[in-house]
Amino acid sequence: MSLANALTAEWEAAKPDLFINPRHASRAYGPREAAVLDEAGFSEAQRHIHAWDGYRPTPLHDLAGLAGELGIAALAYKDEGGRFGLGSFKALGGAYAVERLVEAHGPGITVTCATDGNHGRSVAWGAERFGCRCVIYIHKHVSEGRRAAIEAFGAEVRRVDGTYDDSVRQAAADAAREGWTVVSDTSYPGYVDIPRLVMQGYGVMIDEALDQIDRAPTHIFIQGGVGGLAAAACFRSWSRYGADRPRLVIVEPVLAACIIATARAGRLTPVAIGEETIMAGLSCGEASLVAMEILDGGSFAFMTVPDSAATGCMRLLARGTGRDAPVTAGESAVAGLAGAIAFLAEPDKAAAIGLDATSRILVFGSEGATDPALYEKIVGHPPRD
Ligand SMILES: Cc1ncc(COP(=O)(O)O)c(C=O)c1O
Repeated sequence: MSLANALTAEWEAAKPDLFINPRHASRAYGPREAAVLDEAGFSEAQRHIHAWDGYRPTPLHDLAGLAGELGIAALAYKDEGGRFGLGSFKALGGAYAVERLVEAHGPGITVTCATDGNHGRSVAWGAERFGCRCVIYIHKHVSEGRRAAIEAFGAEVRRVDGTYDDSVRQAAADAAREGWTVVSDTSYPGYVDIPRLVMQGYGVMIDEALDQIDRAPTHIFIQGGVGGLAAAACFRSWSRYGADRPRLVIVEPVLAACIIATARAGRLTPVAIGEETIMAGLSCGEASLVAMEILDGGSFAFMTVPDSAATGCMRLLARGTGRDAPVTAGESAVAGLAGAIAFLAEPDKAAAIGLDATSRILVFGSEGATDPALYEKIVGHPPRD
């Protein structure tokens, strides 16, 4: 199978990592996890978000052609490209937290955050929608296209001459001085409540997908930045299917693999970001504290993929395979799919996580072409829609 062989060559060249989780728990969703994300909080998020103007579930594509080529029973791709015109699932998280903060404290607040692009877009959109001031921090690698998209929602954007972590520190320092509220998608000791709201918002997308799918998936491959998205997927699937939940594999870029480092060490373990990954939304050096509370026992395995596997998957989806229609996927959207393909190309690895001809895999295309110029450079033509 040519596609998988190509990705496997890249996999070997980039020395990717695989870690089967020794703490994977074969039990029902428990109190440790429910202290982070629970049913009541999820219902509240669902009630709010379902009432937003323009809300409708994003499509779930049945990639039957690719599933056939990969030798599995089914491959479903949740396509977040059309989410509220923002282009990613992130629309559900930051904006939901802003809504709840404005409800609690009134429109006089100023919300702020650091961002690689998508989270800041969501916070800015939420601030415009729910009526409060917004200041967003970006680092030196964030493209001008992503900056413009945030400014379009009326937010003030400040560029910090440094990395993502530098922009996080700047946002925190300015917020402390000015009395602003930091709406972060990641959590650390002493800062947990707002990231929990953000993750509850993501859960709305996960439930949509699990409602749209014919039969429960056997495996979910999902990309990780700080782990909030993966934790939301773990929560919803664990809570819905109990001990028989799908096996969850977290996929990170080789160049920003903080979740696998944390899982292996059993405690928060930051990694230095040297070269920036093309998967901008996943370029994080430190996992989210509360997300790891859920992933610690919830995920089955952790792995990394090289940037070239992501660009390969973007082109593959843009072309369409066999009877599958073309799909527009951004750089951070396809890491989960790349991970699944890389596994399936190696029988030993596939067997280690129980992948076989009967497997039904669910992946989350977490963004469309959120940076159209970059998309065109990678795929060779502009985004279709
Ligand atoms: C498109 C996209 N996918 C996935 C992620 C990863 O989400 P998390 O950082 O919660 O792991 C992000 C984060 O910004 C993103 O923008």
